[in-house]
Amino acid sequence: MNKILVTGARGQLGSDLVTALCQQYGATNVIESGWRAPSDRSSSFAFEVLDVTDQGQLQKLIEHYHIDTVYHLAALLSAKGEQFPDRCWDVNVNGLRHVLEAAQRFNLQVFFPSSIAVFGPHTPKLDTPQVTVEDPTTMYGITKATGEFLCHYYAHRYGVDVRSLRLPGIISYSAPPGGGTTDFAVEMFQAALRSETYTCFVRPETRLPMMYISDAIRAILGIMQADSNAIKIRSSYNVTAISFSAAELVAEIQTHLPHFTCRYVPDFRQTIADSWPSVIDDSKARADWGWQHQYDLAAIVTEMLEKLRAHSQNTQS
Ligand code: SER
Repeated sequence: MNKILVTGARGQLGSDLVTALCQQYGATNVIESGWRAPSDRSSSFAFEVLDVTDQGQLQKLIEHYHIDTVYHLAALLSAKGEQFPDRCWDVNVNGLRHVLEAAQRFNLQVFFPSSIAVFGPHTPKLDTPQVTVEDPTTMYGITKATGEFLCHYYAHRYGVDVRSLRLPGIISYSAPPGGGTTDFAVEMFQAALRSETYTCFVRPETRLPMMYISDAIRAILGIMQADSNAIKIRSSYNVTAISFSAAELVAEIQTHLPHFTCRYVPDFRQTIADSWPSVIDDSKARADWGWQHQYDLAAIVTEMLEKLRAHSQNTQS
């Protein structure tokens, strides 16, 4: 029986993950949590305000709902983390440690999203291997690399069933991303549909690994549902779908909306993007537990435009 707690449930990943979990396990078995109450209380799911830096509060919630699985998504992303490095460390590292402590005590299965941000300037940029240099330049990357070490430690020292993915930039339509370096890839669609010129904060040739939200949700559920023996890496698996540059995304959007234009005004996020890989080798995830992506750039753009149009029609009516 799965009784699931999702932290950071109203973020970019959480919003779609909760829907998928409710479909698979039933809405009464999914408890959403976040650092503040959502403005719309229309949701039929249970929502708890939870500060993951408060270990006692987290443990009480786990005991109260008899939780056996935690999807621990609460985190500050890369750009936000540079603005608030102390808070980033506290939420991302201490929050994870509290979840892993609870996992050890209550025998929980845990999902932890790591990131391409664990890599840095000395990491090979092309076909970045599973095991390679990790020299992150952002506080966010430092917290995710530390998180990977913690996951590996709790799995091997205490037998905690923790599973993790090094996620690339996620492209989604339900909830906006907040404070990440790959956010330009989502913002571009919104500007295009409003017939606005998008001001992109990275240069046109900036190429990063990306994944459509449906693939990301399948990857998360895939690794969590895989046989435990198949999960040979307990730090975090490289996973990816496709890589494209900002200019390639503009060109693909223009095949649907020919009048769309973009200008490039790089800011501090360019330095962050430049420190990350362009193309990731995720062959271990494909071999160990059968990871396969479905969406290429053309499919992502077609579906994003369709979903965002439907979304804005629903909110207007
Ligand atoms: N999407 C994240 C960010 O840009 C990377 O993990 O911060």
